[in-house]
Amino acid sequence: MTERDLTVTPDLWPEIKVPALDPAIEARIDDIMSKMTLEQKVGQVIQADSDSVTPEEVKQYWLGSVLSGGSSAPGDDAFAPMDAWIAAADAYWEASVDPEGVEIAIPIIWGIDAVHGHANLAGATIFPHNIGLGAANDPDLIEDIARITAEELIVSGHDWTFAPTIATPRDDRWGRTYEGYSERPEIVRAYAARIVYGLQGRPDTDGFLGDGRVISSAKHYVGDGGTLDGIDQGETQATEQQMIDIHAQGYFSALEAGVQTVMSSFSSWQGRKMHGHKALLTDLLKTHWQFDGVVVGDWDGHGQLPDASTTDCPDALMAGLDMYMAPGSWKGLHASLLGHLQSGRITLHRLDDAVRRILRLKFRAGLFDAPKPSSRISGSPLRLLGSQDHADLAAEAVRKSAVLLKNSDRLLPLNPAGTILVSGSGADDLGMACGGWTLSWQGGRLDSRDYPHAETVLTGIHRIVRTAGGKVLHRPDGRFRRRPDVAIHVFGERPYAEFRGDLSTLDDRSVYRRDAEILQRLRGAGIPTLAIFLSGRPLWINPELNAATAFVAAFLPGTSAGALADLIFAP
Ligand code: BGC
Ligand code: BGC
Repeated sequence: MTERDLTVTPDLWPEIKVPALDPAIEARIDDIMSKMTLEQKVGQVIQADSDSVTPEEVKQYWLGSVLSGGSSAPGDDAFAPMDAWIAAADAYWEASVDPEGVEIAIPIIWGIDAVHGHANLAGATIFPHNIGLGAANDPDLIEDIARITAEELIVSGHDWTFAPTIATPRDDRWGRTYEGYSERPEIVRAYAARIVYGLQGRPDTDGFLGDGRVISSAKHYVGDGGTLDGIDQGETQATEQQMIDIHAQGYFSALEAGVQTVMSSFSSWQGRKMHGHKALLTDLLKTHWQFDGVVVGDWDGHGQLPDASTTDCPDALMAGLDMYMAPGSWKGLHASLLGHLQSGRITLHRLDDAVRRILRLKFRAGLFDAPKPSSRISGSPLRLLGSQDHADLAAEAVRKSAVLLKNSDRLLPLNPAGTILVSGSGADDLGMACGGWTLSWQGGRLDSRDYPHAETVLTGIHRIVRTAGGKVLHRPDGRFRRRPDVAIHVFGERPYAEFRGDLSTLDDRSVYRRDAEILQRLRGAGIPTLAIFLSGRPLWINPELNAATAFVAAFLPGTSAGALADLIFAP
C-alpha cells in the first residue's frame, strides 16, 4: 500500500450542511489565542484520565480535558457517590480556571462514556444497550433517552459524553456489537441525528448546548463495525462505496445535527489506522464537510500508529486529530509535542487550528461563562438522578426493544394467577441485564441497593404475579417439587466490553450447555416454558430455541429489566 492509495474521492461522498460559525465566538477565540503560551496550547490538545491526573497537574500543564474511562471513578471507588463526582468536577474546574502564572486560564471539559444512560455513576438510570434500542426502531424514543442521559450527566458535573456509537456492526462476533444500534445503516442514520439532538439540543435554537445539555461525540470514525472477522480494532475491509453506504451513514445525520466532536476509531482502513488517516480525518471530514468541531482520539489509540508510542505521536495531530485521549500518557505526550513543535515536525498552523476548535467547542458549550459544575444545576440534583420518571422511560424502552422469536401453542401472554417457576442465572442478576460499560469497563458488579427504582426480570415478575394472586417459585437450577403451571428461564451472556467480548464463533456450545439441559428437562416434564435471552448480540442458540415453547430476545435491557414482565403477562 502506498501513500497514493490512502485517499478518498470526496465527490463520491454526499454533501453535508453543518451549522454555521458564529463570528462573535471566532473573534473571542482570536483574542484568547493571542494571550496563550505555546505550553498552554499543547495542554489544550491533551485529555488525561481522572485516575492518572490530579487537579494540580491539570493546572500545571493547562490540560484541555479530563475523562473518566470505563473503570475510572473518584477515589478509585467504582461505586463513588454523586457527591464525590461533583467534588472532583469542581476541583478540576477550579484548577483549570486558576490564572496564576498565565495571562488567560481556560476551563476544562470533563468527558465520560454515558453510552446507555449515565451508567458509570451508581444510581443513574441505565437504559437498554443500543442493540436493543435499534430493535425498537423508534427515533422519538432515542431523543428522549438522550435528553434524560444529558440531564443525569449534569448532576455529576460532566460536560461531555462519548456517545453515540454509530457503528454499523456487520459481524456479530465483534465484542462491541451491542454498542451499535443496528446492522442496517438506515436505522443508524435515523437514530444518529436524534440522539445528538437529545444530548446537545437543536442547533440554531437557544437551547443548543444550553441548560441540561451536554456535548456529544459520534464514534468511532469510521468503519469500526466493519472489521474483518469482527475483530475489535482490526482492519475494515470495505471499498469506498461500502464505507459510504454502510459505515458512514450515521455520520451524515449526526454531523448535520451539529455533533460537536467525532472520536477517531481504533480500527484501520486501507491498511492505515484511523488516528493517522489524513484523507478521512482532514480531507473528508474537515475540508469536504466543513466539520468545525473537535476530532478526539480514543484511549491511547494514537500510540498504534507506525513509529509511534503512547507518549510520542506527532503524526496523529498532523493527520487531523485535535485532542489526544492520553489517559496515563499525557505527561510524556506534552513533552514530546513541545519537542516536535521546536523541530518543525508539527506546524504551529496545525496546532493553532486544533486549539481553535477546542476553544470553539468550549464557547459553544457556554463554558467560559459557566460557574463551577456544582453550581450549574438548581434544585435537588438527586431528584433527577435515577428518578421514577426516568425509570419509566427506561421501562418503555425495554418493552419496545424485546423481540419475540417464538410463541408456540400461543403460550404468551402468560397467566399471572398461576404458579410460575423462574429459573436461570439471568433472572435476578442486574449486572447481566446491564452488560458491559456499567459502573466498570467490563460491567457485572452492580449492587441493587444503589438503584432504588431498578427491577431485575425476577422482581418484575414478582410485581405482576403478586398483584394477580399467583405464586413465583425462584429456582435458578430449574428443579422443583411443587409442579408449576409454567416456567420462565432467563439466561444469556456474562457482561463484557470491547475486545474482551470478541468471539471466534457464534456457536460456542460450552456456554449454554446447562441452560439447554434445564430447558430440555422442563420440556420432558411437560412444563410450558418461556425462555428469555439476555445478550449483546444474536447467537446460535437453536437447541434452546427448540427446547423452549416461547422465546424472547431481550438484549441488554438495563436497570428496568423487570419491564419485560409487563410484556409477557396478560392484564
Ligand atoms: C473506547 C471508547 C471509549 C474510551 C473511553 C475506549 O477504549 O473504545 O469507546 O469512549 O475508551 O473510555
Ligand atoms: C478503561 C476503558 C478503556 C479501556 C481501553 C480501560 O481500562 O477503563 O475506558 O476503554 O481501558 O482498553
